[in-house]
Amino acid sequence: MSIQFRPQIKDLVAYKPGKPIEDVKREYGLKEVVKLASNENPLGSSPKVKEAILRALDELNFYPDGNSTDLKKAIADKLGIKPTQVLPSSGSDEMVDQISKTFVNEGDEVIIANVTFPRYLSTAVMMGGTPVIVPLKDFTYDLEAMKASITAKTKLIWLCNPNNPTGTMFTEGALLAFLDNIPTNVVVVYDEAYREYVTREDYLHDSIKLLDKYPNVIIMRTLSKAYGLAALRVGYTMASEEIINEINKIRGPFNVTSLSQVAAIAALEDTEFLKKSYEVNKEGKLYLYKAFDEMGISYAPSETNHIFFDAKRDAQEVFVELQKKGMIVRPIFSTYVRVSIGTMEQNQRFIELLKTVL
Ligand SMILES: Cc1ncc(COP(=O)(O)O)c(C=O)c1O
Repeated sequence: MSIQFRPQIKDLVAYKPGKPIEDVKREYGLKEVVKLASNENPLGSSPKVKEAILRALDELNFYPDGNSTDLKKAIADKLGIKPTQVLPSSGSDEMVDQISKTFVNEGDEVIIANVTFPRYLSTAVMMGGTPVIVPLKDFTYDLEAMKASITAKTKLIWLCNPNNPTGTMFTEGALLAFLDNIPTNVVVVYDEAYREYVTREDYLHDSIKLLDKYPNVIIMRTLSKAYGLAALRVGYTMASEEIINEINKIRGPFNVTSLSQVAAIAALEDTEFLKKSYEVNKEGKLYLYKAFDEMGISYAPSETNHIFFDAKRDAQEVFVELQKKGMIVRPIFSTYVRVSIGTMEQNQRFIELLKTVL
């Protein structure tokens, strides 16, 4: 008799993250490597984070506060909601997993865009859900088509705004019209991982107001992007107390480390750092747009810290050629490549190398 794995995970493939810089240095014997592959913050993180972590280093022998009490309070106070409406997690990655575990049963339909954050799909499949895949329209979420895909079996809808990997967004008006017209028993997860980078005014900048109006909405945020804490794995989710209570039952008892909790509190306080991240990103985006225009490269309009462009050549090939020269980007599919926006120096280097490759 052989051991038996759950059939739901049979065809899943392990998540393939962006290649680490050290791996590429070793593989190609390079001294200088730039990674613009994982939408990380090129400015690092707030100096206040380092101070907070240094202070916490003397207490590594203690388990973290399993309730993340101070962090919940800091978030709730900042946003004018109750701490019981907030749930910190080990990155929003963990929360994608927990949400699927909380809601998705065998045979439940889960509506997901065809080009979006891949964990929505793999966690739905993992739970035995039936993914209903809705194509993007002009590289943007097609909310009308998503609404039309709802059936009596629909349990969950994943929205990523702005979207990874295409960088595009939908407006506040479009979102509210969507939420107003879907059954209230369908749970909508609104993933705002890149919200801090959005420049357009017609975006829903104040998503907190959704919480009162739509008890079926879950909002996910992360400190991995604009706050620059990807290494610490910390994000937070907001929803009704009822939803938060249920998700809370299935999370690991100490899912956010002590260092991550104090770091997140310090990061959330440093609005100066956030502003700088936004400005550098905006400037970098305009530089890359101009360079792409000059090279005749088409791209999707981005409201994030990455740009999705058509290399007009096999994306995997472009990725390998750039990597050999010390530039790591992300091939998405076909001829489409995603590049994270770096410092001006990194952006210039990327364009220089892209020109030699194309
Ligand atoms: C849309 C989106 N959601 C969630 C995540 C997960 O972020 P983290 O687990 O670092 O918080 C990412 C990371 O790239 C993302 O792009």
